[in-house]
Amino acid sequence: MKREQWGSRAGFILAAVGSAVGLGNIWRFPYMAYENGGGAFFIPYLFAMLTAGIPFMIMEFGLGKKLRGSSPVVFSKLNTKFEWLGWFQVLIAATIGIYYVAVIGWAISYFGFSFGQDWGTDTNAFFFSDYLKLGENSPTSLGDWQWHIAIPMIIAWAITYAAVFRGVKGGIEKASKIMMPLLFVMVLLLIGRVVMLPGALDGLNYLFSPDFSKLADASVWSAAYGQIFFTLSVGFAIMLAYSSYLPEKSDVNNNALMTVLINCGFSIVAGVLIFSILGYMAAEQSKGITDVVSGGVGLAFVTLPAAINLLPIPYILGPLFFLALVVAGLSSHISIIEAVTSSIMDKLNVTRQKAATAVCGVGFVVSMAFATNGGLLLLDLVDYFVNNVALLTSCLLELLLVGWLVKLSDIRQYANRISEFSVGQWMEICIRFISPIMLAVILVKNLIDTFNEGYGGYAQFELLTLGWGLVAAMLVVGIIVNSTTPPARDMETDA
Ligand code: PHE
Ligand code: NA
Repeated sequence: MKREQWGSRAGFILAAVGSAVGLGNIWRFPYMAYENGGGAFFIPYLFAMLTAGIPFMIMEFGLGKKLRGSSPVVFSKLNTKFEWLGWFQVLIAATIGIYYVAVIGWAISYFGFSFGQDWGTDTNAFFFSDYLKLGENSPTSLGDWQWHIAIPMIIAWAITYAAVFRGVKGGIEKASKIMMPLLFVMVLLLIGRVVMLPGALDGLNYLFSPDFSKLADASVWSAAYGQIFFTLSVGFAIMLAYSSYLPEKSDVNNNALMTVLINCGFSIVAGVLIFSILGYMAAEQSKGITDVVSGGVGLAFVTLPAAINLLPIPYILGPLFFLALVVAGLSSHISIIEAVTSSIMDKLNVTRQKAATAVCGVGFVVSMAFATNGGLLLLDLVDYFVNNVALLTSCLLELLLVGWLVKLSDIRQYANRISEFSVGQWMEICIRFISPIMLAVILVKNLIDTFNEGYGGYAQFELLTLGWGLVAAMLVVGIIVNSTTPPARDMETDA
């Protein structure tokens, strides 16, 4: 059977951008920039984008297009001994997909609440007590299952399932062509209204005013470098799968460049949005911006609802914001589930419909662990280990394998031959030296810190099972799968 293909170049780019632009752009990037030197953070961020983001994206688009397969296929074609790295990546994607959907579910709930600001004035108590019903829970004592959290998660799964079930062109591409323009319009509408509010410019000043002394701090560089892989969805099976559906005559280099620039541009735009709102909130409450600023779950579900209460026309701006969050999250979720689905299709030579049903079915059941009182804690713990240990390990291994064990110059020349512009030798230098060195330093530091200090005050046995144990299990499963018959499907490659 012939491999599916994207219907148009714009469709592919929108799908790749849909994957890259996600919750991370909205709630991680602005806070990270603020914490790491404001305007000065753009220097390490640009450095990470140029030396890791762009070369890595070109490498993955080139590999996916040339070897025409999901991550396990790509690595087993490079060297049959390395199929396990593909499965390790697929398991990372599956794990992220299973908890990311919980956050999308919360955002769907909050979209509903936002019409009447049902969260009231104490948005902190509302989120943790009334909504999550978090009590004396822990990641291993999850409490009861919550229908009101499960239902929006089911809605999110249904949308993802429909897109992946219908396939590359009829499902994923179509969904991206609706979702991405919708997301950009919503964010622009929001910005258009909030930058004019009193205090908004002070917020932007805080975000952009550079503290150059931070550049001497190694942790600022490692924050930028650690974030770039997650934000671009590279290194865990997604972009390999998406680029494996590129038609014969497709550009690689320019597509990669555009995907990276749109994602990073969107992050800055999201920063403008968030800090305008925070600046306004600080001004309204006569507080300093440092008293209101936050990131992550707390930003989206505690701080921003409180800020929305103060906005003009909150019943319009609130729903716009949460719908933007839902759309950004869903298009990323679709890409994660596609990465897993396409790997199963390639390995077992089963139909897309069967693979998608199995993946979404199992994913759905496991994800219900997050629709519980303690779901947030489980999510927090697993997310920490996936991001700080598993994902960086996977990226480092991919760089070492492709940079040192195969002929990287062949891949670069292949990409150059079919692309609108050529990339020079610098790309190989980034992939063989700069990126792996930076990543190795960050990873070793993360491993030592986590080993010594644990994380988030979770119990030792929880760290051992749901943290270290989970990462080890993903590696072991990958190795076991590698020892079985190689992927059955679509074994031809591009010249
Ligand atoms: N790139 C997405 C973001 O920045 C995150 C993501 C994670 C996307 C996992 C796909 C899969 O939020
Ligand atoms: Na992103």
